[in-house]
Amino acid sequence: MLKRKKILVGITGSIAAYKSAVLIRLLCKAGAEVRVIMTPSATDFISPLTLSTLSKNPVLYNLFSENDWANHVMLGRWADIMLIAPLSCNTLSKMAHGACDNLLMAVYLSATCKIVVAPAMDEDMWNHASTKNNLKIIEAFGNHIIPVNNGELASGLTGDGRMAEPEEIITWLNNHFESRESLKGKKVLITAGPTYEAIDPVRFIGNHSSGKMGIALAENFYSKGATVTLILGPTSEKVPEGIKVINIITASEMYDAAQQEFIEADIAVMSAAVADYAPLKVEDQKIKKSSETFTVTLAKTKDILLSLGEKKQPHQLLVGFSLETHNEKENALKKLTEKNADLIVLNSLNDEGAGFGYDTNKITIFDNKGNEYPFDVKSKKAVAEDIVHTIINRLHE
Ligand code: CTP
Repeated sequence: MLKRKKILVGITGSIAAYKSAVLIRLLCKAGAEVRVIMTPSATDFISPLTLSTLSKNPVLYNLFSENDWANHVMLGRWADIMLIAPLSCNTLSKMAHGACDNLLMAVYLSATCKIVVAPAMDEDMWNHASTKNNLKIIEAFGNHIIPVNNGELASGLTGDGRMAEPEEIITWLNNHFESRESLKGKKVLITAGPTYEAIDPVRFIGNHSSGKMGIALAENFYSKGATVTLILGPTSEKVPEGIKVINIITASEMYDAAQQEFIEADIAVMSAAVADYAPLKVEDQKIKKSSETFTVTLAKTKDILLSLGEKKQPHQLLVGFSLETHNEKENALKKLTEKNADLIVLNSLNDEGAGFGYDTNKITIFDNKGNEYPFDVKSKKAVAEDIVHTIINRLHE
């Protein structure tokens, strides 16, 4: 699984840095291409010469060196994964708050790849409220944390805080890359963003959806090997490369595109905030201001999720979203049944950090077998991981 994988290893100032030598050796033995970045204090614990010899590449640690400076953006783009092991309490805090005072932090802050960390610290530091808080923050950014072990610590005490063993980290990486292929051969259809319903050539009825949740889902499915088609309403959000995008404006255009694309899909996720009503008549010319009040007659749009639920084949998995402000569970379950979905993702606008405009979301997933899966408030990328993970589990049932 690690053959030809590009692994960027970040090493910080912790006594566990001595384990990096074994870790890098195991990575190279498994066929990975390894590059190493150290914080200046990590060089007090293990020599760059040892690590450059083992990784067969120069080790970088100087933020202001002429040669290394331009590399930082390049390395975070080059890597399939950035693994920070050991992660010290100090670097954890910098990651949580975006400090950029060394090369490792500059690379971390500009990396576009998946980031995984293996913390290492003394038990009291590990249990400190600020450490717990910082871990939560970096997890919400979408970083993955490999849990610490319980055992003998540098202080001589025994407790939680030991870095995971290099073999355990290798197992995690193997599983990670294996899961990247877990949806290979699957075709996924996603609707996302708002729809705009024209009133006249200059005005429309729309909503606050940014499409961020659906784009995060598309990215996550794609990272697991699926072929992804995203039917996307008007948004300024960027879609990562590799995803087929069908841009639409209106609910009716989204409906037509979804009917067409659903035929080939194995999984369909309807995350778009589709207008429920559209103006019955679109004026050809700009409506001029005249009377004191103005009425637009709206007609119901066609429900895309409902229509796909009606034609769903046994091999197809259909997932809906349910955005609610009251009677959340009851309304979500009603949509799950009425629209014949297999799963429904509930967003309550009453939850802090959930809904339009936020970078975070809080969801509960219900399935049509009576299961309920609640999740904490997380970044939309981490929420996408939870949704895709639940879908994969369902495919394996
Ligand atoms: N949906 C759809 N087509 C529509 C309206 C909604 O496909 N014309 C989908 C949404 O993408 C979502 C689910 O149906 O997956 C539920 O959408 P939501 O707006 O929460 O509910 P509605 O069914 O529109 O009902 P209400 O607005 O009354 O809550």
